[in-house]
Amino acid sequence: MEELPAHEMRRLEAAAASDGVSLDDLVSRRLAGEPLQYIEGSAPFGPIEVRVDQRVLVPRPETEGLYEMAVKMVRNPEIVVDLCTGSGALALALKHAFPGATVFATDISEEAIEVALENRLSTGLDVYFALGDLFDPLPASILGQVDLLVANPPYVPKGDFADLPEDVRREPEVALLAGPTGLEHIQRIGASATRWLRPGGVVICEIGETQGVSATTSFVDLPAVVRQDLSGRDRYVVAVKP
Ligand SMILES: C[S@@+](CC[C@H](N)C(=O)[O-])C[C@H]1O[C@@H](n2cnc3c(N)ncnc32)[C@H](O)[C@@H]1O
Repeated sequence: MEELPAHEMRRLEAAAASDGVSLDDLVSRRLAGEPLQYIEGSAPFGPIEVRVDQRVLVPRPETEGLYEMAVKMVRNPEIVVDLCTGSGALALALKHAFPGATVFATDISEEAIEVALENRLSTGLDVYFALGDLFDPLPASILGQVDLLVANPPYVPKGDFADLPEDVRREPEVALLAGPTGLEHIQRIGASATRWLRPGGVVICEIGETQGVSATTSFVDLPAVVRQDLSGRDRYVVAVKP
């Protein structure tokens, strides 16, 4: 029989003990390809812990890297926006880091917004979560006022779904897949970012490792550059509005 690595077994043993469920059941679920964090029911993200299940993407270390970059680049923001918020991890962690900021976060998935609201309740962090397409649900009053705009949009090309690992394919398709090129959401974010930022405002968008060049040219009227993740792969487009 296939075996799980020791570090995964230790985590499943802890989950079985804390939930009073059978370890064998949890091991079978993991061996069948369910993400470890869905089985545990939560995932750490920077300074917080968020609930995760099949309704949302499991927050990744690369996105924690985005959080850390944002916290280093921005001082005392008043208005923060997180597009494609999923579990709400990034928006909630930014509210934790910047308690004085008003934080807005949007997602097109009703189920993701449900999870984000559950995480707002469990963390006690007051973020405005809104259902809708990218910038659409944001109040017009913050046009040109945003100090920090972050996004981890779907960026896998539709045709690449079958090549993803089994546990990743268990995550919502709407969280993973963009259109035929993978760049569709990034391009739409890039086309509008400058209208929402105030002068001096910062945008950081997570991208796929091969998308750097195309992604930077999408950020219209902004001096966008590519930054790498901890593995040295192109992972973020960053710009400060002049
Ligand atoms: C890669 S996941 C990121 C989730 C979360 N920000 C994180 O980093 O863990 C992308 C998210 O974008 C949402 N999404 C997809 N298309 C969208 C759109 N057009 N407008 C807003 N959200 C969208 C998905 O529902 C999913 O929650």
